Amino acid sequence: MRVLVCGGAGYIGSNMTAMLASDGHQPVVFDNLSKGHREAVHNVQFVLGDFGDFNVILETLQKYSIEAVMHFAAFIEVGESVQQPLRYYENNVSKTRTLLAAMEKAGVSKFVFSSTAAVYGMPDTIPITEDVAKAPINPYGETKWAVERMCHFLAQTGRMRYAALRYFNACGAGGNGTIGEDHHPESHLIPLVIQAAMGKRDNIKIFGTDYPTDDGTCVRDYVHIEDLCKAHLLALKKLDAESELAYNLGNGTGYSVRQVIDTIRKISGKNFKVVETDRRPGDPPVLTADASRASAELGWTTDYPELETIVESAWKFHNDHPNGYGG
Ligand code: UFG
Repeated sequence: MRVLVCGGAGYIGSNMTAMLASDGHQPVVFDNLSKGHREAVHNVQFVLGDFGDFNVILETLQKYSIEAVMHFAAFIEVGESVQQPLRYYENNVSKTRTLLAAMEKAGVSKFVFSSTAAVYGMPDTIPITEDVAKAPINPYGETKWAVERMCHFLAQTGRMRYAALRYFNACGAGGNGTIGEDHHPESHLIPLVIQAAMGKRDNIKIFGTDYPTDDGTCVRDYVHIEDLCKAHLLALKKLDAESELAYNLGNGTGYSVRQVIDTIRKISGKNFKVVETDRRPGDPPVLTADASRASAELGWTTDYPELETIVESAWKFHNDHPNGYGG
């Protein structure tokens, strides 16, 4: 299938592009390179453009006879979204509306959307099923949920089929550790701890040690990037028969911040300074997925559920790219 990968030069998009190509699809990467890296995309068609530009998107959809769109281009910083909500609504909602309008005009009806566990806010029920109330607690989560609702109403017209994939904590590196995470600034736990282990930062801060968890630190459901991408292929196929899909993507197993730090110490063989600080506002104590719907309906299984395997792949990527893709 000819698939437009919007945001295909970013962390998840570039892994998806590689997997689509190796699975026999024809991905076309569309990216404005505001966050992504040209070096992360190999041997596929690349279009430099902004997904808020209706004419460029329409032209691209038509030129490459695109049959489906996978959409990864979004701002993802929770804290920044609180400071600059309008920027998030503009990028994550308004521009996605433009992308969908161009798809509608071009008659491209299949859409796989990167959503997030942040749509659930601070749920009472753990692990989280898809039916748990959607109650985002920050603009980032709210913008993702707004797009899901937009897709829902469009699907109701019969002119669109979509799958919303709600990621828990995407991590690790795909392509045998060659396609990894290179955010500026970096805010995610695993790459930050790895930077500390590599001596690229003085310490790693633990945001809160008084949570109601076994060791007092937050627990998250870390899911390997290739397992996430695999679910997109399955969801895309399922859209042949269905018009509205939503799945949680996680392993169902939680690891605490301290467990992540210990695992990176073990895999790297390096010691580094850990500083215990205050809680980061808006962090729920525990977020783990009940992904049984994805398993039952898509036949999704994870190949790399172990934190050690995930960390090994990320460690390899960061050591091979000590200054990110540019270095
Ligand atoms: N953490 C630290 N120190 C750090 C960075 C993070 O202790 O330097 C902690 C956080 O407080 C949190 C855990 O590590 O408890 C994981 O934090 P991340 O920032 O790596 O990931 P989040 O769980 O906050 O965010 C992820 C995605 C977001 C998404 C969110 C949904 O990265 O895009 O899940 O809940 F919005």
